[in-house]
Amino acid sequence: MKRIAVTGGAGQINYNLLFRIASGDLLGKDVPVALHILEVPPFIDVLKGVVMELNDCCFPLLQEIVIGTDPFEVFEDVNFALLVGAKPRSKGMERKDLILDNGKIFVEQGKALNAKAAKDVKVVVVGNPCNTNCLICMHNAPDISKDQFFAMTRLDENRAKAFLAQEAKVLTTDVKKMAIWGNHSKTQVPDFFHAEIQGKKAIEVLSEDWLKNTFVEKVQNRGGAIIEARGKSSAASAASAALDTVFSLVSTTPEDDWHSLCLYTKNNPYNIDNDLIFSFPCRTLEDGSIKIIEAVEWTPYLEEKIALSQKELLEEREMIAHLL
Ligand code: NAD
Ligand code: LMR
Repeated sequence: MKRIAVTGGAGQINYNLLFRIASGDLLGKDVPVALHILEVPPFIDVLKGVVMELNDCCFPLLQEIVIGTDPFEVFEDVNFALLVGAKPRSKGMERKDLILDNGKIFVEQGKALNAKAAKDVKVVVVGNPCNTNCLICMHNAPDISKDQFFAMTRLDENRAKAFLAQEAKVLTTDVKKMAIWGNHSKTQVPDFFHAEIQGKKAIEVLSEDWLKNTFVEKVQNRGGAIIEARGKSSAASAASAALDTVFSLVSTTPEDDWHSLCLYTKNNPYNIDNDLIFSFPCRTLEDGSIKIIEAVEWTPYLEEKIALSQKELLEEREMIAHLL
């Protein structure tokens, strides 16, 4: 059985995510799970309602549910920690505007994971701004190897794949190597130069003008477009991307593909500052280790845009330096 910690259990992402984990969409239909769900005191009763519904589903794989408001209790022995619980932005805000409110959450949660989680715990931060929150969490968990911390750009990758597939009139499964570089923010860099559609470079299939001037902005602004349309930020698609992230962490990546993942930059092959959580194209190897794909050639366009995303992450780090 695997123990899965999920934070923000009464929130909108979790009203989808918890049920999908319990039904076997995280680790497969043959892996029993225990859910360890954290909430803040004002929303614990709402979470109790969610737990009633989880029980009422009779999920065969769901063997135990632990809930609470103290991460030092809830994170006991967990093998995965999906850190979702944090304020979402609303219309007109950027994700980094959340940093001072949300950043501090990840100090205590990092300490609690350090003290209580299973040694093999893999931590995936979803709560925004997720790269910098992940950096805070990792620095507050000094006994957990830094290569066990990740933040999520898989939703951006999935959005990018969907846009490319729609434009090329193919299936999303025909799109591969759709890397996102940098920060999960408007400065993210969806790398259309290396994306492939049915085995061909996307730039050979679609117009470079559309890729550069329409596609990139659509991906960068998709989170905002959803807030504009729904009045709330993405939830079911975010939950789905979190499941995809964990799937890619625990399964060997096919030879002809990559997955986008934000991870610790120490000794990265692209000369990005050594103390950030940054999105790279990655591959999970047969032994379970995660490798950044090396020697992806940066065009001058990529170089300029990736530098801007790095600059934003350096500024975010400056703002929360006291939490590291
Ligand atoms: P929500 O407001 O519906 O739910 C958040 C929940 O977290 C609330 O129930 C809140 O009480 C709880 N919470 C707050 N502080 C907590 C703490 N210290 N411990 C435990 N729980 C806590 O928000 P949501 O729509 O579910 O989004 C959650 C976060 O995920 C937001 O920051 C949002 O911006 C982010 N997000 C990230 C991505 C991504 O791609 N990385 C995608 C979508 C949303
Ligand atoms: C997203 O990309 O949908 C999330 O990061 C939520 C947001 O604030 O846009």
